[in-house]
Amino acid sequence: MLDKIHSLLSEIDRVTASNADELEALRIKYLSKKGIISVLMDDFRNVAPEQKREVGMKLNELKQKAQEKMQSLKDQFESNKGKDAEIDLTRTAYPVSLGTRHPISIVKEEICDIFKRLGFSIAEGPEVEDDWHVFSSLNFAEDHPARDMQDTFFIQSNPDIVLRTHTSSVQTRVMEKTQPPIRIICPGRVYRNEAISYRAHCFFHQVEALYVDKDVSFADLKQALLFFAKEMFGADTKIRLRPSYFPFTEPSAEMDISCNLCGGEGCPFCKYTGWVEILGCGMVDPNVLDNCGIDSKIYTGYALGMGIERITNLKYQVKDLRMFSENDVRFLEQFQAAH
Ligand code: DAH
Repeated sequence: MLDKIHSLLSEIDRVTASNADELEALRIKYLSKKGIISVLMDDFRNVAPEQKREVGMKLNELKQKAQEKMQSLKDQFESNKGKDAEIDLTRTAYPVSLGTRHPISIVKEEICDIFKRLGFSIAEGPEVEDDWHVFSSLNFAEDHPARDMQDTFFIQSNPDIVLRTHTSSVQTRVMEKTQPPIRIICPGRVYRNEAISYRAHCFFHQVEALYVDKDVSFADLKQALLFFAKEMFGADTKIRLRPSYFPFTEPSAEMDISCNLCGGEGCPFCKYTGWVEILGCGMVDPNVLDNCGIDSKIYTGYALGMGIERITNLKYQVKDLRMFSENDVRFLEQFQAAH
């Protein structure tokens, strides 16, 4: 019997199992009720009394060794299993945190997308411009206050070179080079000599739209504006046009939308009027078409321009304009782009 126990001890030393099934087979073979060790335990009755002590100790040692071996095999393949299943060798070694899009970019894309659906395409122009494209071609009189140093940044005291004060300058650039039909949307940064506060900044962003063709009418403008307002602020949005003045459009209007915070009921945001102003627009002044080489007797057009910050404030209720340019990630992280 002792010989048998010794050979079992070394056998158990050598056994291996690489999965739960193999381990279970080993357990049945050695440790189950009818397993080798249990049978030996039963035979223990027949051992001669003078050998009982020695054989008993060895038998216990065998049982304990078998149990320990089963446990260690189990631990071994379970930790291997973990390694195979969970380690992705293609993963980077350090966490990569994703950035978010700037709220102004999100809203700019959204505005452009809406106009693209109406057949408009993107046009861009320089931020450092000349007087002709920013003012003169757009029918600004010589003494118009917008030309004043207090509103406009001039480059190196040269009165002819300015930082553009609006994206309407891109209208001129496109019309000078292209004959109608023209249907463009011009997003971009503009600059004005303003004292920086929560409601004004020396740079901000605008989107300009221009449509010139035969028979373009004010009704076309209104339809495009209504489509834009509903797409941007929701199907229930109403619009209202108020007569206004811009040198480059005639007639001109400013558009209000029904306040998207109170639904037109009246609240502090819309100063209890139920309406908020969002853009300027009008029919392109014939002088502007002629200035750019487009025959105003054949063609008409509409134009509109809006501030992206203003639209963003309406959508996200950002109370302080300065947040847009301070690069505070706690602010920026709150905006997730749909694009
Ligand atoms: N350029 C104007 C501004 O900066 C906005 C504007 C008003 C653009 C009317 C237009 C327009 O095209 O028709 O305030």
